[in-house]
Order: sequence, then structure tokens, then C-alpha cells
Amino acid sequence: MKIQNDSTVTSSQLEVIKSIEGFVGEHLDSLLLKVEESWQPSDFLPDTNGENWIEQLTDFRTRAAALPDEVLVVLVGDMVTEEALPTYQTWLNRLQGITDHTGASPSPWARWSRGWTSEENRHGDLLNKYLYLTGRVDMRSIETTIHHLINNGFDPHTENDPYLGFVYTSFQERATKISHRNVGVLAKRAGEDHLHKICGMIAGDEARHEKAYKLFMTKIFELDPAKAVLAFAKMMKSKIAMPAQLMDDGRDKKLFSKFSLVAQKIGVYTAEDYAEIIGALVNDWKIERLTGISGASAKAQDYLCGLSERYLKLAERVSFSGVEKFSWLYDREITLAPVV
Ligand SMILES: [Fe+2]
Ligand SMILES: [Fe+2]
Repeated sequence: MKIQNDSTVTSSQLEVIKSIEGFVGEHLDSLLLKVEESWQPSDFLPDTNGENWIEQLTDFRTRAAALPDEVLVVLVGDMVTEEALPTYQTWLNRLQGITDHTGASPSPWARWSRGWTSEENRHGDLLNKYLYLTGRVDMRSIETTIHHLINNGFDPHTENDPYLGFVYTSFQERATKISHRNVGVLAKRAGEDHLHKICGMIAGDEARHEKAYKLFMTKIFELDPAKAVLAFAKMMKSKIAMPAQLMDDGRDKKLFSKFSLVAQKIGVYTAEDYAEIIGALVNDWKIERLTGISGASAKAQDYLCGLSERYLKLAERVSFSGVEKFSWLYDREITLAPVV
């Protein structure tokens, strides 16, 4: 039975979502941190109320001066992605069965949605302030990019379907975990231990969120393996779209692909990572061992089992050459040619 014209979600799927609400409620305390125990952006920023604030700020900027421009570009792109959080919360609340009907609903799904959003909100906040204080980036251009991105929106092709939605978020949280962690490693390598710590805190949140979405999907696989495996295969066939693909600084039509290229070049998020994530999800959801499915679902199972390896083989070696310029960095040149 079709619930809405724009959706293929069936009433039996909605029953599954409803039936795991209690399970979600029981796990919320371990999947989300208590506010009192959570880190906040100001824990990692100079205390502008402190007597020695000038000294703190000077130290902060000296440390940040060590970051290579290519790392800064990727950090800006990651921050812009995080700052489009209104788009993601709107999207999450559109998933059928997950909707926060009043805006302050006590239902477990609604509490998850608000809890997830409030934790994520710290990511863009912290990175935005970090970048502002470095004094090395064009904040107005970056703010314009965020403005455009939220204005342009994002369609992850999940059709308001919670099965597709939770496959998407499981993938995406793991991808952001990898990305933040790798930026942290590069920061440390450059001598900026403070940013390494910041990226580690953010990556820790992403890891916990990944665990949560994978857990929701694990439960769905238990209750409805035939449709769950179809949803997984469908998302993989349509490819996981990056949430910031419609970013625009008002000047550079290739901004997102240039940002992705730099991220790939410095090893922050690569085609190999994409393949690894597919393999990890296939393992976590024990796709090979799913039983009692047939027809299209069995075909989807076959398709998924070899998919990670196929992506790994296809991960063509991207050749990097030339230089790129970003308005975010006042058009300073980023060299893409490999370092010899
Ligand atoms: Fe995040
Ligand atoms: Fe996240």
C-alpha cells in the first residue's frame, strides 16, 4: 500500500519502524551523551573573557599557522558541510515514522532526531569559530557558501523512506568520521595538535552516530530482511551523494568537485574509503548470512556481497595536476601535483 504519492513506504514498513520505537528508547542513553557530560565548542577555543586572552589568541593563531593550505581547504569544506545542519534535520524529520509531530514530541524517534541534531550542531559551530580565529580564511566567502548551500538544499534520494534513510546515514556518518579523523592526522603531522584534538572529538561523535544508525538498521534487518536488503542495494545503486554537493560560493561552479579533489589528493576521503565503507556495512549487517529471502531480495544480497571489492578494483587512480584556487583562501594557489 502506498502512503504518499512521493513515497514507496508501505504500511508494513511503518509498522516495523513503530515496533522498534521502544528499542530505540531503551538505547538512547547510550547512543547520545548527556548534555552535562558533553563537550562544547568553547572548551576548545580561546577564552575571550580571560585576562590573558590576547596571549591565548596569539598562541592559537601561531599553532594554526602551521596548517598547509590544502588542509585548510578541506577543513573549510567539512565545516560548510556541517553548517548545513538545518537541511539535514529537515530531511530526518521527513522520514516516515520518524517525524517529530509537535516539534517537542517525547517519542523515542523524535528524541533521537533532536538529540542527534543538537550534538551535530557543535561540529559546524566549533569548526566555524576555529577557522575564523585562524585569520587565514575569507570568512565572508565561506559564509556565502553556507548561505547558498542551505538555500540550494540537498536530495539524498531517500524518498522519505526510513529504510533508505538509515542506510544513507549509516554510510554518511562513517564517511564523516573518516574525513574528520584524517584531517586530524594531517593537522598533527603539521604540528597543530590542537586541531588534531578537535577533529578527534568530532570524529568521536560521528562514530557514535554511525553506531546508532547501524543499530537501527540491524533491527530492521532482523524484522524485515527482504525489504531491508532491497533498500541497502537501492541506495548503493544510486550512489551515496555527498551532502554538500550543491555548495556554491557564488563564483565557482566547480567548487564542490574541486574541494572533493583536494580531499582525495591529501587522503582525507578517497574512492578507497567509499569501497571500505560498503564492505564494513555489508559485514556489520551480516548480508552474506541473511536467510529466508528470495527473488529480488536474494539478487540484492548477491549484488551487495561483491560490491566493495568491485569498487576497490574500479577505484581508478585519479591523476592530480596543476593548481586550483579557492575564494575561501583568498585565491591562494593549491598545488595538486603529487609531492615528490
Ligand atoms: Fe558532524
Ligand atoms: Fe554526523
